[in-house]
Amino acid sequence: MTTPTPQVTELNSRFGIDDALTFDCGLGGLPRAKLKSSEASAEVYLHGAHLTGLRLGDEAVLFLARGAKFAPGSSIRGGVPICHPWFGARAGVRDAPSHGLARTHDWEVVEARAIEEGVKITFGSTFENFETLYSLTLTDHLVMTLDATNRSAEPTRLEQALHSYFRVADIREVELRGLEGTTYLDQLQDRMRRVEGDVPLTFAAETDRVYLETSKPRSIVDPGLGRRIDIETEGARSTVVWNPWADKTARMGDLADSEWPTFLCVETGSVADDALEVKAGASHRLSTTVTTQPLG
Ligand code: BG6
Repeated sequence: MTTPTPQVTELNSRFGIDDALTFDCGLGGLPRAKLKSSEASAEVYLHGAHLTGLRLGDEAVLFLARGAKFAPGSSIRGGVPICHPWFGARAGVRDAPSHGLARTHDWEVVEARAIEEGVKITFGSTFENFETLYSLTLTDHLVMTLDATNRSAEPTRLEQALHSYFRVADIREVELRGLEGTTYLDQLQDRMRRVEGDVPLTFAAETDRVYLETSKPRSIVDPGLGRRIDIETEGARSTVVWNPWADKTARMGDLADSEWPTFLCVETGSVADDALEVKAGASHRLSTTVTTQPLG
């Protein structure tokens, strides 16, 4: 067992809650919070406020790459990176970090409390004009809530996504429901605009799409793991669907060749044509709820 750093000791004394919330030194020596409810558990790093593990019942819900880097300044491959306050390349700014500032930044814990049947932890930080709070509420399901308040005197464009890597048995065997008939931008074809067919999505090649104005519940139906993951949102206009497949994986340093079939990213937020404009002093709340059900 690693000796706790002074930071971990302080986090435990300020925010620890018996078995429900403890802090330790995680991978790379980075401080990590461990959340536990009677039916679920989760692990989240202060680095990026990055959720790296989630178990609902006995089921591991998220994918985490074996070669994920846990180091200051790096983003962690897998779990739920927070893309904020922009998504992908930043419009009009060369060399801006991909997917914004939040995922490579150290956040602070601002509050933690026991709630009925579970636990809630809130992280805080400021990214350019946006004072940002991120809460994880764990009961028998998970709710992720991102609150951004524009503290500047100007209306400000905001893009954000909870870039969730869901673990699946084999992406070639799963269905993604809830995006039928939706307009999307194909990121593999210069954001060409297309309309999805009227059947659930299945996957047979690299996929990188921004589905616009999505509001229906989305579900990953996974016969290999015998489960369905349900994803519901509020304050999210878009759903990004991504898997790099084999060739792109071979060019990525932190993903092993065998890993791409075992996850599907379903990212909820507001990006590209769905970007938000937040008025001076106003706030925007994005909330994503994740539950699992056995397949009948
Ligand atoms: C997705 C994007 O959200 O994230 C893809 O749509 C991108 O274009 C992927 O390749 C991974 O991004 P990164 O910066 O974590 O490698």
